[in-house]
Amino acid sequence: MTITIGIEGTAHTLGVGITDERCNVLANVIEMYRPPEGGLHPREAANHHTDIVASAISKALSEAKMSLNDINVVAFSKGPGLGPCLRVAATAARALSVRLNIPIMGVNHCVAHVEIGNATTGCTDPVLLYASGGNTQIIAFANGKYRIFGETLDIGIGNMLDKLGRELGLGYYAGPTIEKLARDGTKLLDLPYSVKGMDMAFSGIMTAAVSLKKKGHTLEDIAYSVQETCFAMLAEVTERAMAHIGKHEVLMGGGVAQNSRLRGTISKMAEDRDAEMFVPQPRLCIDNGAMIAWLGHVMYDSGVRMTIDDTKVDQRFRTDEVDVTWR
Ligand code: FE2
Repeated sequence: MTITIGIEGTAHTLGVGITDERCNVLANVIEMYRPPEGGLHPREAANHHTDIVASAISKALSEAKMSLNDINVVAFSKGPGLGPCLRVAATAARALSVRLNIPIMGVNHCVAHVEIGNATTGCTDPVLLYASGGNTQIIAFANGKYRIFGETLDIGIGNMLDKLGRELGLGYYAGPTIEKLARDGTKLLDLPYSVKGMDMAFSGIMTAAVSLKKKGHTLEDIAYSVQETCFAMLAEVTERAMAHIGKHEVLMGGGVAQNSRLRGTISKMAEDRDAEMFVPQPRLCIDNGAMIAWLGHVMYDSGVRMTIDDTKVDQRFRTDEVDVTWR
């Protein structure tokens, strides 16, 4: 039995997960940094991760009822993400690898979202709609690689919702508040629908939404209009990717995939084209260590080996740079 520990640290979350070779999740500790005010500062998030990484590892081991000696492989998020945060996860993983004399795997965070979905939801060859704070990408396997079929040209959709929340006085991590407000919105206000080919842009929508408040529109109508506009954009690009490469499954990933209106929009699109939608359970959908452990295992199992020298973090690690040796 191969037991893998995975350390996630691309942005606000420090996660430690433990999986076995059948993708049973034996532990999944998720510690999210919440800035006292303002936006996410990479250095402050990294300080938070540094403070808690050792206790998160201990917590994961006790959740799994294991000791360090039971671990066979250590994986960490090599990128993409915020440099200072990535380095905390990488440093902890290197320490474990050297101390326990076990193999180390640096994994791509976006591909980890796909593989945990494949392993736990029953889909086999999906188009992933990955919608989170830092990332918004439409990813699918084609011609030997995971490729990006569409992505944001500026900021991630979650980031946009957070910034908008701050501008509207709704606090940080405002996605759930915006979702709640949107349920009582009735008027679809005009916002710049920005799909360019297969790519999307969100920052113009935020600026326009803030100016709607100054014009006296209600928060409910603004939240409703922002969600409807952005989710239609995501659905359009996801659908075009599915049609283009002939896929019949859509997998959701990332924090914004928790939004029930987004799920409803995507599931309707899937239904209309005789496709199926899959959503991992919440703690495997958001950033977490279990998905990092699982991809680390999958890579190790397919013969990938890395030395400590190969474990330099890569803030701009592209999904299509990953050599897919396991499919
Ligand atoms: Fe993520």
